[in-house]
Amino acid sequence: MKKNILSGLFYSVLMLLCFCTAYGQRQLVINEPAPGVKKISTGKLDQFTPYGFCDEAPMKAAMQQLPGAKLPFNINDIKIRITNRGVLVEIPLADTEQLYGFGLQIGSFNQRGLRKKPIVNDNPLNDVGYTHAPMPFYVSNKGYGILVNTARYTTFYCGTTEKLNNKQKIVNQNKNGNSVAELYKNDDKPGSNVAVDVPGAEGIEVYIFEGPELLNVLQRYNLFSGGGALPAIWGLGVKYRVKADFSQQQVMQMASYFRTNNIPVDVLGLEPKWQTAAYSCSYVWNKELFPSPALLIDSMKSHGFHLNLWEHAFVSPKSPLYEPLKNKAGDYLVWNGLVPDFADPAASKIFGDYHKETFIKQGISGFKMDECDNSNLTTGNSTWSFPEYSFFPSGINGEQMHQVFGIVYQKAIYKIYKELNTRTFLDVRASNAFASSYPAALYSDTYNHDEYIRMIVNSGFSGLIWSPEVRESNSVNDLMRRSQTAVLSAQTLYNSWYLQNPPWLQINREKNNRNELMPDAKQVEANVRTLLNFRMSLVPYLYNAFADYHFKGIPPFRALVVDYPRDKNTYNISDEYLIGQGILAAPLTEKADERKVYLPAGIWYNFNTNQKYEGGKEYIIKTSVTELPIFIKAGTILPLAQPVEYIAPDTRFQITCMVYGANPVNTTLFEDDGTTFNYQKGNFNTVNLSCTNKKGNVKRTGNFKHSRYQIIDWKFVL
Ligand code: GAL
Repeated sequence: MKKNILSGLFYSVLMLLCFCTAYGQRQLVINEPAPGVKKISTGKLDQFTPYGFCDEAPMKAAMQQLPGAKLPFNINDIKIRITNRGVLVEIPLADTEQLYGFGLQIGSFNQRGLRKKPIVNDNPLNDVGYTHAPMPFYVSNKGYGILVNTARYTTFYCGTTEKLNNKQKIVNQNKNGNSVAELYKNDDKPGSNVAVDVPGAEGIEVYIFEGPELLNVLQRYNLFSGGGALPAIWGLGVKYRVKADFSQQQVMQMASYFRTNNIPVDVLGLEPKWQTAAYSCSYVWNKELFPSPALLIDSMKSHGFHLNLWEHAFVSPKSPLYEPLKNKAGDYLVWNGLVPDFADPAASKIFGDYHKETFIKQGISGFKMDECDNSNLTTGNSTWSFPEYSFFPSGINGEQMHQVFGIVYQKAIYKIYKELNTRTFLDVRASNAFASSYPAALYSDTYNHDEYIRMIVNSGFSGLIWSPEVRESNSVNDLMRRSQTAVLSAQTLYNSWYLQNPPWLQINREKNNRNELMPDAKQVEANVRTLLNFRMSLVPYLYNAFADYHFKGIPPFRALVVDYPRDKNTYNISDEYLIGQGILAAPLTEKADERKVYLPAGIWYNFNTNQKYEGGKEYIIKTSVTELPIFIKAGTILPLAQPVEYIAPDTRFQITCMVYGANPVNTTLFEDDGTTFNYQKGNFNTVNLSCTNKKGNVKRTGNFKHSRYQIIDWKFVL
């Protein structure tokens, strides 16, 4: 916060030097806070902004390594006006430009031509912009990104407006007689711009992330935010959340089912009833269901499970946190609980320290931070969260608090893990800008599979981690297709919070809860096991992709347009994505067993059949439910491990390197203890994998004393 107050002062002084031109247009102050990141500011800045909550220092040395930054337009062409409505920022837009981002968007991908309101909401809906993790940040395929640093509800008009000017041509625009659809059609608006409307603001900061390429823009954004998240390595295994009313004994039985049946699971999540009160929360073990939590934690640990606890931030009068937080909370209640003023570091500390002593030091590996995303704004009868006019003692208002609540909540909890030098992988239902460094996966109560896939693709534009969870299913096919998507995402999660049995034993919710298992349950279980085993094989590759996210800012999951910004065919592909350097995923839904797959330039191999395809074309590809809908780029050395059921501190992955094509490109594996922050002090190895004349080479460099990976074989696919 200090940073913000100081910069606020600085800019108020500068303001005196500024002069206003016609229509409130402002002279702008431009500086460069990090290589390739420009900041424009003007007017009286808000005290609370997304960047104000970012404690991580920019990774400037890594940013310096990126290719020379440049903008496709003159920065002075960005115009800012301050009027009695608030701030208006206008940014140039070329007619051929494509825009992406605004956080975890659900109903749209290419945002050009849309009016977007990236506002936090538990019910993400169509293409308006409401979502769990909205962000005032978009990127362009021309190689730059614009972030308007505000926590106010803001609207972006992405090339949708036509301004009155003297150059208007007289054209025959008499639309009389046209159909209604034609009349209201969203036409292209040549010569338009991006206009950002920030009502109520008296000043603004705009961050401009330069390229030259779209990928470099995202790298700069993630590095500026402190580098991408590096979850604990076990977080890349499988997470299973048990039914909300399970007892300690039922949790143990479920754990034993997984191990007996060789189903990989690393993390078990407990849902609301582990606490004495949940809506609002007590943060106290419910001793009726969990008579000895310490025993549970120990026993789970000895079988290789990590425990994750569900909660939200609304503090019940029954909680020991109620009294200490009573004077550090908003003036409205949620479910009769306090809303802690996390904008005040003292409130965050009270909340965090309680978690530290009561849970984290006892061995709880993570939390699911629920309900931090405001009640459904699209219906009048959904009012559970605090109102926008709430007052908080720190001075933040309810609207701003909603926009940053997910961030400040993550920060309060993650800080404790950092203090204890223990890594985690959290779940959270809201986030916002400059949060790339938080190892927290977003999830949703929505359940449309197409949207879930699109959210993987969109997450990469905004430094977010998205978890397309699996719950019940319409059909076994649906379950299997959803499982494939979960396996090919940042977090593989089965959320059985209302299911007695795993969904692969009974897909139907009612029957599942009556313990009526499907006649072919064992076969479906075996098929799901095949997919989960593949997930475990992919962990070393994924872990390296996350290390690239942390150290270089490269999103581990990203749209094709990020790597192929000049290929027009990629501009609207929102159902395929890249994983790490060499994998392209094209998930299927239950609708069909085959789908259209566009492969960009180069040669690609079907992972299942090894069939070779020439890129730049579209193909119809069939993939069975136990195969993986992925394609490997020629030149890739793909390290695949023998699957393990869980990742222990001493797990040593036995790896076969699959070499695709005649000209393999050197690659790496990131090797460290996987569970502490010691890598930040250089305690890691880079395992270099290369291959010449069909002979593989492994070379380790670095300070980490152990080896996590043993390369046992090389296989060649030509
Ligand atoms: C919801 C959450 C679900 C589950 C449930 C328990 O808000 O999205 O995943 O945790 O709460 O009450």
